[in-house]
Amino acid sequence: MIKDLSHFVGQEVTLKGWLYNKRSSGKIKFLILRDGTGLLQCVYFKGNVSDEVFDMADRIGQESSIEVTGKVKAEPRSPGGYELDATGLKIISEAHDYPITPKDHGVEFLMDNRHLWLRSSRQVAIMRIRHRLVKAIRDFFDGRGFTLMDPPILTPAACEGTSTLFETQYFDIGKAYLTQSGQLYAEAGAMALGKVYTFGPTFRAEKSKTRRHLTEFWMVEPEVAFADLNDDMDLAEEFLEYIVQTILNEREEELKILERDTTLLKNVKRPLPRISYDEAVEILKKSGNKFGWGDDFGAPDETVISSQFDRPVMVHRYPSVVKAFYMKRDPENEKLALAVDVLAPEGYGEIIGGSQREDDFDVLLSRIKEHNLPQEAFEWYLDLRRYGSVPHSGFGLGLERTLTWICGLEHVRETIPFPRLIYRNTP
Ligand code: 4AD
Ligand code: MG
Repeated sequence: MIKDLSHFVGQEVTLKGWLYNKRSSGKIKFLILRDGTGLLQCVYFKGNVSDEVFDMADRIGQESSIEVTGKVKAEPRSPGGYELDATGLKIISEAHDYPITPKDHGVEFLMDNRHLWLRSSRQVAIMRIRHRLVKAIRDFFDGRGFTLMDPPILTPAACEGTSTLFETQYFDIGKAYLTQSGQLYAEAGAMALGKVYTFGPTFRAEKSKTRRHLTEFWMVEPEVAFADLNDDMDLAEEFLEYIVQTILNEREEELKILERDTTLLKNVKRPLPRISYDEAVEILKKSGNKFGWGDDFGAPDETVISSQFDRPVMVHRYPSVVKAFYMKRDPENEKLALAVDVLAPEGYGEIIGGSQREDDFDVLLSRIKEHNLPQEAFEWYLDLRRYGSVPHSGFGLGLERTLTWICGLEHVRETIPFPRLIYRNTP
């Protein structure tokens, strides 16, 4: 594979892949081969190869699948640092009129051709960072005594508010909903195993057409028994440090392809600043924002708040009216929820939402009623408070939002292979 070529300098190799690009200069043809691990410039001299091979090199179109043979040469000026002194060329499947050419294309066109767009260098780099991030996330929890527990995707009730539910008829039983979060099931898991995490797709019928919202996205959700809000924040900052530093160390090349300025990412080290919602409101007011206590932060507010810090900031103790039914109230101030959001720098906004959970049976039941949630569907969840309830906490990190930030992208749509957005469910 192209990534292994450093071990083959001076040797003859045969490689399979696709024609990424080509150019010619008189008696020389330069074919750029890609194989998913890198790019390789293959040089065909008219004198060195048969006329048949030279004509083939001239004729084949972008994204033809090919097999090339030649001698590996170190060439610092070429992409990847190596070049192939090519002698052979075989066509596996000839392609013509590949729709995505090296010129600029509009985003909608690229999105329509997402299945092909994935072949371009930037998209390959993002997918490789995504893969490494998923592994870093798993390694972090696996290395700290957490058990991975997969929650169901078809669920009987809402977790994060009833306004963003995807609904489907479930045989004769009634309605089922695509899960918005694995959290409620993770709580059952924490009571069984102590420390668990869920990691999988979650769904929100978000009516928002923003650069941060997908309707299907991946979330990792740790849940810990005998942990309070402070423990939750300790876990979140250690986790963020681990995953960001891992990507900086292991995906340097890909970040370079994306031209990501990593200065601020290098700062993602403990301790992360912790401020209360009240302090965040003060920041907004000082910056001239008309912001009323009790409102939730919008994206521009988050940008103002996070711009005060050189690394992600944890904002804790939000007004309970803007937060979910399951969050425990602050014993010091009943108007506040023991919640935390982590805001990423550079305007990337909320990447983590978490809280300490309500562990008192009567209080939780009254919250379920206040939120007009169907008590029946939550009886199993109430059981967790009937039988051996303990203080517990957890959070959810959105994989794609985190990747958008780490990769320094404009829009979340490039971070998932086949994005699902309010106005798009193809290809
Ligand atoms: O803040 P949220 O809604 O929290 C929960 O779902 C909790 N049940 C998590 C928990 O405590 N176990 O969502 C968590 C994170 C957000 O911070 C964001 O990163 C991401 O999920 N997220 C989205 N990502 C992309 N598109 C959307 N529509 C998203 N909605 C939330
Ligand atoms: Mg949230």
